[in-house]
Amino acid sequence: MQRLARRWQRAGMRVGLVPTMGCLHAGHLSLVHRARRLVGRRGQVVVSIYVNPTQFSPQEDWSRYPRDLARDTRLCREADVDVIFAPDDEQMYPRGEFGAFSTFVVEERLSRGMEGKSRPTHFRGVTTVVAKLFNIVQPELAVFGAKDYQQAAIVKRMVRDLNFPLKIVVAPIQREADGLAMSSRNRYMVGELRAQALALRRSLAKARAEVRKSARPIPATRLKAELKRFIERAPAARVDYVEFFEPDTLVPVPSVTRGTQMALAVFLGKTRLIDNARL
Ligand code: PAJ
Repeated sequence: MQRLARRWQRAGMRVGLVPTMGCLHAGHLSLVHRARRLVGRRGQVVVSIYVNPTQFSPQEDWSRYPRDLARDTRLCREADVDVIFAPDDEQMYPRGEFGAFSTFVVEERLSRGMEGKSRPTHFRGVTTVVAKLFNIVQPELAVFGAKDYQQAAIVKRMVRDLNFPLKIVVAPIQREADGLAMSSRNRYMVGELRAQALALRRSLAKARAEVRKSARPIPATRLKAELKRFIERAPAARVDYVEFFEPDTLVPVPSVTRGTQMALAVFLGKTRLIDNARL
């Protein structure tokens, strides 16, 4: 891949990367289309497909994370992707003669709260694998989804802090017709769970409505408690966190107004879903 990337560079070709863990859906494909528009018809669009073990904790769903490379390949072909980069674990994290892989990239501020608090080693895995992908594919731009709002902010920060020579583009969240944010984990949402999964989207709408009708900023603790009660009226739903914060710095705000960013994580049965919106 790196040799190919160098050849493209020498030929003056534009290269856009879309990092994914596969099991592609219309949310991923919207990133592919964005990359294509940005690099043009003669540019190269690379989709990486790799279920990165270092961003899952031992208790999480790495081994049962859905994988379907045959289907992903078909979708990529239809979406006019030039190259799929799908390495295996031994290629990405070689065990080798001198012992285990031992270099990690760690962002230390934006990754403390929310997903980082609930999943303490998660972002270290994300920044490490994304840094590797950037070095392997050497794109001039990479497209990420706003679905993982904190992840996109952390990747942008890493690129700035470590002078990666590329641009990060963040594309909007794609949703199902009823508003559920598209996710590879939605395939676990069957029957009653699927209906209850709408609690995430509805809580964002509710927060937005309250902010609009309130003349004054709303204390974050009060709104959090109210939304938690609202979400957990769905019997299978357990709130992991609801957070209100500054959209750029991710710093939590004491009171919520128009323009505040909201993010939440909710367990539905065993599956953990996330969503976010600008209020
Ligand atoms: P994955 O969950 O497969 O997501 C890949 C990219 O697709 C991410 O940038 C994510 O934000 C975006 N995405 C997912 N659902 C979306 C939706 N409904 N609308 C818009 N974009 C959406 O995020 C990862 O993989 C991994 O952490 C990765 C960055 C690949 C590193 O391993």
